[in-house]
Amino acid sequence: MKLLAAFASLVLATACGSKAPATTTTAGGGGGSAGSATPVLPDVPFEKLDHDQQIQFMKEVVVPTMGPLFQAHDPKEFAEFGCKTCHGPGAEKGEYDMPNPGLRSSTSPT
Ligand code: HEC
Repeated sequence: MKLLAAFASLVLATACGSKAPATTTTAGGGGGSAGSATPVLPDVPFEKLDHDQQIQFMKEVVVPTMGPLFQAHDPKEFAEFGCKTCHGPGAEKGEYDMPNPGLRSSTSPT
């Protein structure tokens, strides 16, 4: 009898133990910040995104990632970092063609 009781409590303990991580996962799975209603971007290559998704990707990924890098390089020059920094003045008119003709071409071959 004693052995069975010990076994039973061991099983119970194990069962409880395995529940704990599952609860933790659920709690951490909430993920998103700021509670925005912006749809999550699909995990596909950039060119497979539609135009609005490309803009969203630029806003959510490119600007926050590249901004600090540019500013670390030259805080004055890139104090105002945004779409225009890479896309040129055309960005204000919704022209995002790349490569943007206004970019310096100091590294071009020949
Ligand atoms: C760090 C430089 C950089 C910044 C800042 C940046 N972009 Fe871009 N953007 C690019 C590059 C490079 C491409 C080309 C990517 C490709 O085709 O693979 C691109 C592509 C795009 C395209 C698709 C172009 C097309 O084919 O029509 C859109 C739209 C766009 N960007 C919008 C924006 C917007 C809006 C912002 C500001 C929120 C922004 N970008 C900021 C570098 C930048």
